[in-house]
Amino acid sequence: MIKNICCIGAGYVGGPTMAVIAEKCPSINVTLVDSNHDKISAWNGDLNNLPVYEPGLKKIIKKVRGKNLFFSNEIDKNINKSEMIFIAVNTPTKTSGEGSGMAADLKYVIACAKQIAKASKSDKIVVEKSTLPVRTAEKIKDILCKEGKKGINFEILSNPEFLAEGTAIKDLYNSDRVLIGSDNSPSGLNALRKLIEVYSNWIPISKILTTNVWSAELAKLASNAMLAQRISSINSLSALCDMTGANTLELSRAIGMDKRIGPHFLIPSPGFGGSCFQKDILNLVYLCKFYGLDEIAEYWHQVVKINDYQKERFAKKIINHFGGDLKGKVIKVLGWAFKANTNDSRESPSIYITEKLFNAGAYIQIYDPMVPIENIKADINQYWNFDINTNDKRISFSSNNKINEDIDAVAIITEWDEFKYVDYKSTKVFDGRNILKKPFYSI
Ligand SMILES: NC(=O)c1ccc[n+]([C@@H]2O[C@H](COP(=O)([O-])OP(=O)(O)OC[C@H]3O[C@@H](n4cnc5c(N)ncnc54)[C@H](O)[C@@H]3O)[C@@H](O)[C@H]2O)c1
Repeated sequence: MIKNICCIGAGYVGGPTMAVIAEKCPSINVTLVDSNHDKISAWNGDLNNLPVYEPGLKKIIKKVRGKNLFFSNEIDKNINKSEMIFIAVNTPTKTSGEGSGMAADLKYVIACAKQIAKASKSDKIVVEKSTLPVRTAEKIKDILCKEGKKGINFEILSNPEFLAEGTAIKDLYNSDRVLIGSDNSPSGLNALRKLIEVYSNWIPISKILTTNVWSAELAKLASNAMLAQRISSINSLSALCDMTGANTLELSRAIGMDKRIGPHFLIPSPGFGGSCFQKDILNLVYLCKFYGLDEIAEYWHQVVKINDYQKERFAKKIINHFGGDLKGKVIKVLGWAFKANTNDSRESPSIYITEKLFNAGAYIQIYDPMVPIENIKADINQYWNFDINTNDKRISFSSNNKINEDIDAVAIITEWDEFKYVDYKSTKVFDGRNILKKPFYSI
């Protein structure tokens, strides 16, 4: 039986996942470690300011923090004392070198493997929780065998995470499936049995799916690609609805009632965001190219291209309405998070759409109920290639969703529930999420 778990990476995946493991397995001590000291302090600090906002998370942290869930900067010590180590660090798109702009950057994962090799004085089960290109386990094993102490056995399991931000706790409590890929050797199967024991504390055995390591790694990329493909498919049709007078919601309802298709992920939007879909599809595209499958690479690449098209289309809808120029117009942007019920704005459509509106001359007022203003400013600095600290008078931040007289148009970009109940008066509302009954325009 596993007694101590260490998870490297206390972010959107590591935080909620380990909180649920700690809650459901009171006999296991779980420690989250991270190289970011501020993040660890925030996890140990005020419950109202945790680094990750997820409905239901605060309650679990309150219950288990300091009992069997701990947050620490002492990475080596916690690796060494644990029998099982999860790697849940970020795997962004590479920005330089071979595969730049497409392949996953594995530098953080490789740093973890090196650290585990260096710190381990006893056998370890290493669990890949991060989303990784197929065959990464081979690289990790290689590092552990070459750099680890002689006589220590390392087993690698692939256990990709399928939670969605905004519903992470619900998804973790009640997973559609838990996927674990392992080696078929006796020690691989032994490691697999130990991880199954952990999950079987709350997940029915029938939902724990075991495969080989490569299938598990690829299944995560493929799942995200299929989900994003549905969004791009309905978004591509929303453009045709605009031209023909067909109604996008009526269309998605009509399509989704077909049992073979189903209703999920068929609501038109200003494009998907989040840290995963784009990077994982680009990673898949890169893998296909690497294996010489150019047509397959192009097929999946279109999902990302349509997403870029959709963001552009929504911004243009607003700009064109005002005659191609927003000089002197005041636009209130409702929502900065990439979707509702999260404080995460990575790759949020808001970043790109608002930049277009700003570049067309508009005065921008930004409001989001959960994303801190500091994070919005950091996104603008990073993605717009624009220094907000020069204090451009055309960008301001609201602390509420109120629509004042001076506002010429509203752009709803995140589907926060509160935006359904705003008094929009006679302001022109461009509804990017189809949440209002009769907006001026819905996507
Ligand atoms: N966010 C999601 O919804 C989601 C869902 C499923 C899977 N994933 C995958 O899970 C992984 C993590 O994603 P995330 O959103 O939690 O990322 P994140 O950026 O929120 O968290 C990653 C954490 O790892 C830490 N870190 C990086 N390198 C480290 C090192 N060497 N030592 C210690 N700490 C280190 C960072 O400081 C950061 O706090 C990614 O591969 C992602 O694709 C994400």
